Amino acid sequence: MNPTHILVATFPGQGHINPSLQLAKRLVKMGIEVTFMTSVFARKRMANATTEDSPKRLTFVEFSDGYDDGLKPCDDGKRYMEEMKTNGIEALKNIILASSKRDHPVTCLVYSHLFAWAAEVAREVHVPSALLWIEPAAVLDIYYYYFNGYGGDIDKCSNEIQLPKLPLLSKNDIPIFLLPSTPERFRLVVKEKLDVLDAETKPKVLVNSFDELEKDALRAIEKYELIGVGPLIPSGFLGGEDLSDKSYGGDIFKLSENNYIEWLDSKPESSVVYVSFGSMFVLPKTQMEQIAKGLLDCGRPFLWVIRENEHDGNNEDDQKWSHFEELERIGKIVRWCSQLEVLSHPSLGCFLTHCGWNSVMESIVFGVPVVAFPQGFDQPTNAKLIEDVWKTGIRVHKNEDSGIVEGDEIMKCIEKTMDDGEKSQEWRNNANKWKGLAREAMGENGSSNKNLMYFLKELGHV
Ligand code: UDX
Repeated sequence: MNPTHILVATFPGQGHINPSLQLAKRLVKMGIEVTFMTSVFARKRMANATTEDSPKRLTFVEFSDGYDDGLKPCDDGKRYMEEMKTNGIEALKNIILASSKRDHPVTCLVYSHLFAWAAEVAREVHVPSALLWIEPAAVLDIYYYYFNGYGGDIDKCSNEIQLPKLPLLSKNDIPIFLLPSTPERFRLVVKEKLDVLDAETKPKVLVNSFDELEKDALRAIEKYELIGVGPLIPSGFLGGEDLSDKSYGGDIFKLSENNYIEWLDSKPESSVVYVSFGSMFVLPKTQMEQIAKGLLDCGRPFLWVIRENEHDGNNEDDQKWSHFEELERIGKIVRWCSQLEVLSHPSLGCFLTHCGWNSVMESIVFGVPVVAFPQGFDQPTNAKLIEDVWKTGIRVHKNEDSGIVEGDEIMKCIEKTMDDGEKSQEWRNNANKWKGLAREAMGENGSSNKNLMYFLKELGHV
């Protein structure tokens, strides 16, 4: 039998690369040979993405998705995904077939969820595959239920949607792709992911989550085998063997040089509000101004990530940004930061986040209470889990007429998280509890480690 060689194929978005690369590094540490495949653009921009301790076991392969300089705001997203698929299928086939002619053929494919087509390629060339699900298990469950008997219930968009093994949901908690207001083609993207899984018997899904966090959700779909292998965070932050491993190593945005760590060092313990909306979302200027207002009204020190591409593209408009100087007096604005270093800093008090799953996982690992400000995709569901299931924070509410979350609401939610009241105390205690459980899961005898070893054993790895 050939030695295990896993090909990890990942969509070139930061939210996909971070957990995928982390999984790849963990596999390498377990003695597995890994090839990591992503686009030319992402690979070009990924910093330090090598494991110095065992470089021979981790190989990077990039493919041209037709957008080697990255996706521009004027590009058509649908076309981008189509070209990604066409070019990706060809590249994947070539990599797998070339490997079979060498000593180390690929023996398993792990693909991130926007690469559903990758599973079809694997089937065609008779290589087993597993999906790496980079969102919570609960979201995969909701998608599954939608196409398996509960579509009508979800479509009704009521305030009481009861799905098996999940908390009672309201219309505000449903992933955006399933809302009636979302164009049909996005639901079809979800359907395609499930169809690919349904073509297999008991398909394996590696989930960036852990057993204690999503006990029921990880077991909700009988037809699939969901395997909790998270949190997929560098081991240096989890008290693992290699304490120097403190970076994902795959940043596709340039790291800010803005001395923000020194700035955090100068702040009292638990005093800073960290604000970030991840790597993709662009907020309207009116919303940014309301966030600024909320932060100024709080008067607490804050660190706010505003990416270079995080504006509406109209430079003249950007220059009219009010409050900018005032903001820089009490807070710090950076283009990008090492979020892991920031969240693990003792001066951190709370995290105002869009609830991308990586950010949520990171808030759990570092025990940071959350002000949840969901934007799209899975984020409304993630916000629901934070507020009502794990109880580590509060969710903001928008003004139904304007669709904007007002500064006053943002200020109130931050204050409620940062003050010494009963609620903030409860959220802090819960955040600490989950932090401990996340570390346990990743310990040598923890559930995530055992689950990953089980997965390898199933592949025939000894
Ligand atoms: C996307 C989707 O938007 C999200 O809904 C889904 O759950 C995952 O994929 P993204 O919006 O980028 O993700 O957010 P998130 O999942 O939070 O991932 C962002 C990553 O970038 C995090 O790992 C975070 O640590 C990192 N980051 C972000 C930085 O390192 N520095 C920053 O300044 C901002």
